[in-house]
Amino acid sequence: MTDPASNSTNSSAELGKVLVIIPTYNEAENIERIVQRVRTANPDVHVLIADDNSPDGTGEIADRLAETDGQVHVMHRKGKEGLGAAYLAGFRWGLEQGYDVLVEMDADGSHQPEQLPRLLNALQEQQADLVLGSRWVKGGEVVNWPKSREILSRGGNTYARIMMGIPLRDATGGYRAFRRRTLEGIDLASVQSQGYCFQVDLAWRAIKAGFRVVEVPITFVERELGASKMSRQIVMEALWRVTAWGLRARLDRLRGKR
Ligand code: GDD
Ligand code: MN
Repeated sequence: MTDPASNSTNSSAELGKVLVIIPTYNEAENIERIVQRVRTANPDVHVLIADDNSPDGTGEIADRLAETDGQVHVMHRKGKEGLGAAYLAGFRWGLEQGYDVLVEMDADGSHQPEQLPRLLNALQEQQADLVLGSRWVKGGEVVNWPKSREILSRGGNTYARIMMGIPLRDATGGYRAFRRRTLEGIDLASVQSQGYCFQVDLAWRAIKAGFRVVEVPITFVERELGASKMSRQIVMEALWRVTAWGLRARLDRLRGKR
């Protein structure tokens, strides 16, 4: 990992330096294309690939991309520890390197790099601390998802909304832009979520800490290559954590705390 953020130029002066973090596990077929698309659509941003020692060689491809492009960085992690752990490590690195905005993006093309300006503009124009790319607000959509995944996502979001009182349409999505101060204000060191409920966890922490969280519509396009890492274990973790968070919130309200 060479070329820290201080070397970058950025036309959007008010936003500062932007880092797009892409967690990868077996994304050899996708990683080169997504990095190209990010760099083409958003020439000023830097990219950090956080690879969990993928057996398919994603990490080596990432190294090659970083060698030829000073705005691409790679973090090699020792093994598969879940999306949450990879993002936490990526955030820590990005904050240390002085980035002002940290973006989450999947490697498989589901989150279109061409829509990143929408998220970044919302940070500025709507004075947001966290912008969520949302499939389930007006104008948002999902392309090529099996009905079962749509039901899971809508159901999961409805459950989180009812159980936790979280005022969001898409709290589980993984295309988002955080201002630096938001990540610094939500105690990342205490985050334990490993799978996709990491997304709910961070959105909830930001709201509870009083940050302004805004949803903007995105078009989520299901991957064409490689396989989803969604698993029964990831669903079970989300179910029990959302239930526990919801019960805790109710208890706190009864006791008169917020
Ligand atoms: N480093 C690392 N470690 N990366 C991982 C791991 C892991 O253990 N598990 C998944 N990833 C990476 C994938 O390689 C991909 O780049 C990204 O995380 C998303 O994984 P997918 O497997 O493609 O997720 P999905 O399409 O099923 O789920 C999408 O929807 C979820 C529910 O709305 C994602 O956008 C999730 O972020 C979202 O929570
Ligand atoms: Mn995916």
